Order: sequence, then structure tokens, then C-alpha cells
Amino acid sequence: MSATPVFIASVPTGLESIAADEAVERLPDCRIIEKRRGRIILSTPATHREMRRLRTVFRWFAFVGRAADVPAAATGPEHLRRSAETMDWDAAVDRWRAWWSHGGAAKNDPPHFRVTASRFGEHAYTSMDLMRELGAMLNARYAWPVRLKEPDLEVDLQLHDGEALLGIVLTPRSLHHDRNWTAGPTGLKAPIAAAVARLLAPQPGERIVDPLCGSGALPIETAILEPRATVLAGDQEAALIDMARHNAAQVGAAIEASVWDARHVPLEEASVDAIITDLPFGVRVGSHTINRHLYPALMREFTRLVRPGGRAVVLTLERRLFQRLVDRAAHWTLREHRRVTYGGIDPSVYLLTRKSRMAKPDGSSPMLRRHAARTRIDDSEQQGAHPPARRS
Ligand SMILES: C[S@@+](CC[C@H](N)C(=O)[O-])C[C@H]1O[C@@H](n2cnc3c(N)ncnc32)[C@H](O)[C@@H]1O
Repeated sequence: MSATPVFIASVPTGLESIAADEAVERLPDCRIIEKRRGRIILSTPATHREMRRLRTVFRWFAFVGRAADVPAAATGPEHLRRSAETMDWDAAVDRWRAWWSHGGAAKNDPPHFRVTASRFGEHAYTSMDLMRELGAMLNARYAWPVRLKEPDLEVDLQLHDGEALLGIVLTPRSLHHDRNWTAGPTGLKAPIAAAVARLLAPQPGERIVDPLCGSGALPIETAILEPRATVLAGDQEAALIDMARHNAAQVGAAIEASVWDARHVPLEEASVDAIITDLPFGVRVGSHTINRHLYPALMREFTRLVRPGGRAVVLTLERRLFQRLVDRAAHWTLREHRRVTYGGIDPSVYLLTRKSRMAKPDGSSPMLRRHAARTRIDDSEQQGAHPPARRS
């Protein structure tokens, strides 16, 4: 392993490669060592200030080590303890000390500590069993006292696919809490919005619109990523537009937010370079029945607004409904589809490009007329195509 310090970043699950690109772009001499579920492992000599500035990262950890082949059987915790005993804890603890000496917050040293664990998959033991085994090992090594609430030092363990990743928490609160942000009922967390904005890749001089912006996470992150773009945002709820304006002011993002109906945006045809938006999932906002009518209307409006060659990045949990619209769309090409996981749901994010030639739904060609008829999503067809209920 290189002498350059190694860190773990927790990042939006499903968008790890995008977060890794941001790290390489923005941290000095950054080398990505591994990308795994919701985490990237990297080495960099960056300062804690530089690391805190990354927008796609939730939390930072000092890397301790990886334990391979952790059995799913009852011997798992014991196997983990034996592997953890061989890891370089002193180096990681030194990095924790260095972080806090620059970060300014007072910590007890020797610290009070705790272990937290997350597991993915089936195991013959609980997360508590893993925490207990690792806690006992550290207590034997350093004689640190345990404190479960607000510890000075927290060891984080993630077990996935038989491999355990161990780190010491450097940012106890997710970085997005540092911003004085007001989120609406379906507000996206800033690191997810930042990663989705990176998928859009806004360019200088572009006009970019979020027609259903809620409290503004997507347009704000887009404006931060490319301040030379013109970013417009709208929502039907005036209270959410107030929040979006407040949030933009908090982070110094230049967005223009208005109340509007996203099915009839007051902008000229083909006057927009890109759309970035998070459609109502039909759980907390709207319903699946409403979406069956709303989504086709929105797609028609996006088609009207975006210039040929332009782009759209759309986040939705209504995968089947949206996919069906895209499959039948004469005007859009699907470039990328990723599943994102957060808060117990796994919406999809789609990157589409607007085709150059506009087929008119009422055109004279019988083929175009047939296509236009197919593009209309009729209720009877949708009834059978969807499970009856969805989570919010
Ligand atoms: C999933 S939420 C967007 C959340 C947003 N990304 C955020 O971070 O707060 C969808 C939004 O669509 C808005 N909406 C639903 N139908 C609309 C319509 N016809 N016109 C404008 N906004 C609409 C809702 O008010 C809601 O804020």
C-alpha cells in the first residue's frame, strides 16, 4: 500500500463511479483503489478542507482494512476479529487525530468509542454480533472505554459479498447537513442531486431546466457544478419555490425559480439545452393513477422544450411507466440507466438525448399516425401492466 493516506467515502449507492470521477477531478493526486456498494476507497494527500468540499460524498472515513471471505455461517464474527487483529489500526487512529486537530472539534484522547455495522445479505449472525466481537478486540488492544451515544471515535464496518470494510469515521454527520437547507417532503439529499447533475454534465452557456424542482436540489447542484449555465426551475407549489430560492441563496447558487405547471412551461419550443428532474414517484406526492396521465403529458412537454441534440436526466420510481414511454418515444434515445438506492427505495435515473428530427404526431404519414397512437398510454393497458400499489 502506498504511503499516501487511504480514505473511504460513503457516496450515493448506484452512482459510485460518478462520485469517484468527482474525487479524481477535485482532490490532488487522488487514486481510486476500489468502488463498492455505496463506498469508494481512495488515496489522496488532500487536506480535510479539500475533502469536505466534494459534493457527491456523504461521509469520510480513515481506511483501516478489508477482511476477505467472511463466512455467512456462525463463525463470521470470529473470522472478522482475527482479520481485524492484523490490520494497521495505529495508522488509521493517527489519521483520525490529524483530522480532528485540523477540524478544531475537541475530542477525548484516548477516546470513548463504539463500533457500528451494516450488513447486506443473509448471515447466521446479527450486526450486533459483529460489533461486539470487534469492540472486544479494540478494547483489549487500546483499553478505550465504550460510549454508544456521541462517541469520540466511531469504527464503521460494512459487510457486503463476504468482504468486510473497516474505517474510522471522520465526519460523524453527513456533510450535506453542514448546509442550512430546507427540504420539501420528497427533497433529494444534496450528494444524490450532485451525482445526478454530474450525469447530465452541464456545459457553459447552456439553458437547463428542472420543471418539477420541489425544494430545488437538482437545479441548485447543477448551478454549482456549472455556474456558467443558466438554470431555471419551477414547481406547482409556491411554498416549495420559496424553499428552492432560500436553499439556492444559502449555497450561493444562481437559479431562477418560478411557480408553473410543468405540463405547460412558459418557455419557447426548442429553447432548452437540457432537462434535469425528479418526477413524482406517486407515493408521497401524487399517485400512480395520476402519474399514468401526468408522465405522458410531461414527456410531450419535455419534447417540445428541448432542442434537437439536447439531453434529459430523469429520476423516477415509476420504472415501468417511464420505460414504456421511452421505448415508444420517437424523439428520445436512451443513453444510460442506473438504479440508485436511498431511504429504502431504489429509483432509476435515465439519461436521454433528444433526436434531431422531430416527428409530428399528427403528420400525414400513416406510419407516424400509427406511432402517435401507440405513444398515447391508455388506461386499460396500464391497469394490467402495474402492480396495484407502490411505496411513497
Ligand atoms: C419528486 S418531487 C421533486 C423533489 C425535488 N427533487 C426536491 O429535491 O425537492 C416532484 C415535484 O413535482 C411537483 N409537481 C407535480 N406535478 C406538477 C406539475 N404538474 N407541475 C409542476 N410541478 C409539479 C411536486 O410539487 C413535487 O415538488
